[in-house]
Amino acid sequence: MRILLIGFGNVGRAFLQLMEEERRRFRRLGADPRIVGIVDRGGATLSENGVKASSLLTIKMRKGSVAYSEQGGFPSMDAVEAISVSQPHVTVEATPTSRGGSGPALRHILKALEHGSHVVSANKAPFAYDYDTVMRVALSRGRIVKYSATVGGGLPVLKTLKTLTVGDFVESLRGILNATSNYILTLMEEGSSYEEALRLAREIGIAEADPTMDVSGMDTAYKITIIANTIEGGHRVDEVELKGIEEVKPKDLREAALNGYSIRLVGEFTEDGRLRVGPSKLKRGSVLDVSGTLNAVEFRMKRAGPVYLLGRGAGPFETAAAIIRDIFEILEEEKR
Ligand SMILES: NC(=O)c1ccc[n+]([C@@H]2O[C@H](COP(=O)([O-])OP(=O)(O)OC[C@H]3O[C@@H](n4cnc5c(N)ncnc54)[C@H](OP(=O)(O)O)[C@@H]3O)[C@@H](O)[C@H]2O)c1
Repeated sequence: MRILLIGFGNVGRAFLQLMEEERRRFRRLGADPRIVGIVDRGGATLSENGVKASSLLTIKMRKGSVAYSEQGGFPSMDAVEAISVSQPHVTVEATPTSRGGSGPALRHILKALEHGSHVVSANKAPFAYDYDTVMRVALSRGRIVKYSATVGGGLPVLKTLKTLTVGDFVESLRGILNATSNYILTLMEEGSSYEEALRLAREIGIAEADPTMDVSGMDTAYKITIIANTIEGGHRVDEVELKGIEEVKPKDLREAALNGYSIRLVGEFTEDGRLRVGPSKLKRGSVLDVSGTLNAVEFRMKRAGPVYLLGRGAGPFETAAAIIRDIFEILEEEKR
């Protein structure tokens, strides 16, 4: 199985490391995965026999790009050209999630499908802006597109959704889907100011230097859109009614606590198919009332009633594990 990895940041590097560990499990399934190329902003490295993880991690750290690899480094090669040249069986998209549109990731995904490659994406943007296009092209090319890493990291939110919707319907869904804002609200509840809580979130490495995507609710908006698309297609992130946590004050949290509530950033797919993200009051001790960096999802099913999923959300290794899970699923689906 020839794999091309586009994006060699936190997730891409974790993926390369985990693939080394998973080799034996793949072999048991009769697959011999080889990462035949990696692309970053500086260019690409290609190797028919599979790239060498340890030396590439060192080159990336020392020189800034995989394109400086002595064996098969191509400084001027971009992702589209790398797809054409390497003809991968599976293309993994792990470039940054862009704002305002799908960005270069859509081009990468469509090019990969056009070349007969299956696609696994950690990048949220194409599934929040151009879901229908991606799925239409995948269908017309007979290729598989998986994106479970885009929501919940290691927590199998989309896989659970697919399982639950066989013989049942999602009436509505609510989720705590962003670890950074949940962590900030938890600290504010314990007495920190917003600024202090944000500083601590940065210190433990969960908030980016620019945390706008998290605290504005945009990251949750991407995720709730992807969930809605998985349920029924036809949604775009610009339709989400959006409010972030920037205006939540410590006194709001204290007042809510006195009345037996917490305030959390909730993403919601409503019964009438609308998408909403904003700070919401949750009954203390209810399943969605999670603290710190936990994620939680409540699926309200027509027949099965409420079903819950709870656990650690995104992180590079959790996300890389979700990518690997998707690749295993592709192998299984191909055998059918
Ligand atoms: N980190 C998480 O916990 C997490 C969780 C769930 C989903 N995700 C998603 O996973 C994706 C990757 O996240 P990350 O944390 O690994 O990001 P990151 O550390 O910023 O890495 C992004 C990588 O993409 C490369 N890149 C950027 N534009 C490119 C282009 N046009 N062509 C080829 N390569 C390009 C960058 O190249 P350079 O190295 O040369 O800059 C870098 O290697 C994002 O879409 C993110 O939303 C992340």
